[in-house]
Amino acid sequence: MQQCFGEEELANLREVIASQELWGGPSATFGTRLEETFAARLGRRYCHGVSAGTAANECALFGLGLQPGDEVICPAAAPIFVALPIVSIGCVPVFADVDPRTMVISPEGLEKAVTPRAKAVMIVHLYGQPAPMDELLSVARRHGLLVHEDCAQAYDVYWRGRRAGTFGDTAAFSLQQSKHITSGEGGLVLTDDAEVYQRAVTFSNSGLAWYRFGLTRPGNEPLDGLRCRGHFSFGHNYRLSELQAAVALAQLGKIEVFNRRRRELAAAIEDELRDVPGVDLAYVPDGGEPNYWNYPVRVPVGMGNYGELQYPEVVFQQMQRERRTSLGVPLPDYVQYVPGICPQAEAGARRMRGIITTGVQTAGRSVTPSFGGR
Ligand SMILES: Cc1ncc(COP(=O)(O)O)c(C=O)c1O
Repeated sequence: MQQCFGEEELANLREVIASQELWGGPSATFGTRLEETFAARLGRRYCHGVSAGTAANECALFGLGLQPGDEVICPAAAPIFVALPIVSIGCVPVFADVDPRTMVISPEGLEKAVTPRAKAVMIVHLYGQPAPMDELLSVARRHGLLVHEDCAQAYDVYWRGRRAGTFGDTAAFSLQQSKHITSGEGGLVLTDDAEVYQRAVTFSNSGLAWYRFGLTRPGNEPLDGLRCRGHFSFGHNYRLSELQAAVALAQLGKIEVFNRRRRELAAAIEDELRDVPGVDLAYVPDGGEPNYWNYPVRVPVGMGNYGELQYPEVVFQQMQRERRTSLGVPLPDYVQYVPGICPQAEAGARRMRGIITTGVQTAGRSVTPSFGGR
């Protein structure tokens, strides 16, 4: 039976331990190798490893230069790790409706959500289904929106022959345990823009990235005789450790094996469910090549359980009551987090179930497809 972790990961981990350098600082060799290999695989100029997919989303949005109060459009149907990074940099999430067959943001939903304060859109390739990128990009371009792709659930997914993660100004992947490849926790940010990259790296490293860019350290002139460490800006510690990078690099080397197993399980699910009355198999639009994370099946109303509509979550209900974000940014009147704002998402949620297609054995998980979430 194919296991998730094995000799390849152990060999890399031994090397890290032997080096006696476990953190993700300037000497992070596995971190650099992972970033270079992943960037090359996607044909993007820059890749930056961070501590989680959620952190990767936040670093990408910050890297894009978004400011507090800017509106960021994102799909109503997605894990909350999509909207929380918008809130945490002081921006305002505006939820867009989705295609109820896939629960992926629709071009019509995006168009309706645009306001003069909208600066960016987050497109989520949910369940490893490709979003309809041509149509979405054309709406985004018409309104001057920056585009971020959340590919946490979407490794090696294609839209009209082009890989998810290569369309947006930025893209983010997750290395959390359930994903196509994993280091337990971790994330990757991608972009082709040097400034976006530099801002994302600095933000993920407590504002301290001078060693990576050959920059002159600011703020190291004594202030009335007092020295400081010369951090460029505000930031978090979202660094990826060498232990995580070592495991992720080994996993990347095995991604085709994992993909193959996921495809076999998706085919087995389709064989089982094809003739069941009231059940619709995954909808694949023309030009889409999914690589399912969970397999999206639509079941009769009452049996569905898509439990990841974002705006019913407590954080948005609190914002709805207080009319401001948790960072105190006031919400415009037209931003509402109430039932009815995304009717297609609400209808689709009543029918959608994700069936786990984890391709390999991990602790406590079987290789048998099963209903469930993350
Ligand atoms: C679509 C999506 N975005 C972001 C994330 C966040 O990734 P992480 O759990 O690595 O923070 C997830 C994780 O489940 C996800 O499914």
